Amino acid sequence: MRARGPGAATTVLPGALRRERRTGRTLEAMRRLLLLAATALAVSALAGAASASPGEDYMLYCMGCHGAEAQGVPGRIPPLAGALARFMRTSEGRNYVLRVPGAANSVLSDGRLAAVLNWLTERYGAADEPRPAPFTEEEVTRARRAPLANVQATRREVVRELAASGAAPAADY
Ligand code: HEC
Repeated sequence: MRARGPGAATTVLPGALRRERRTGRTLEAMRRLLLLAATALAVSALAGAASASPGEDYMLYCMGCHGAEAQGVPGRIPPLAGALARFMRTSEGRNYVLRVPGAANSVLSDGRLAAVLNWLTERYGAADEPRPAPFTEEEVTRARRAPLANVQATRREVVRELAASGAAPAADY
């Protein structure tokens, strides 16, 4: 057996310590990496929720009923293309739009609902008609939570008044 001199001891022991430290460092690095990944995930989830574009919000929360080109479904769902901007000409029309169940009851925040409606008028407004004043978040907040007692009766009344003063959405859809 080889005698262990002081030199041998110092090479063996520090070696074990080094390994130990390395394992410790690896664990610590892994822990940090996991923490970083979790933080990145949380941040990107938050950012995703806050920064979905109006077009994406339309796709997720409205398009299933109103259609890929906001064209509606004859006999069942009114078109928003060409029609929404006309509703927005009068305060009664704006009030109706903000309280209609599909819009008012969506999970979108007031600001995001305003953005989707404004985006729709930009994208699907009739080219030869003036753009309506955009909705603000405050306007949505004021109107949205008062439920419409009778959606169809309110719509008929609003469309009738609009027709008396210019371009109006179709009475039937
Ligand atoms: C479950 C189907 C459905 C979804 C989802 C939906 N809507 Fe509607 N929407 C309707 C129907 C049906 C009407 C007609 C009024 C009524 O009967 O409620 C309507 C009416 C409207 C109107 C008034 C148009 C008119 O001619 O009366 C607007 C504006 C509107 N929706 C916007 C939206 C927006 C914005 C979203 C997404 C945040 C949305 N809707 C989601 C079904 C839906």
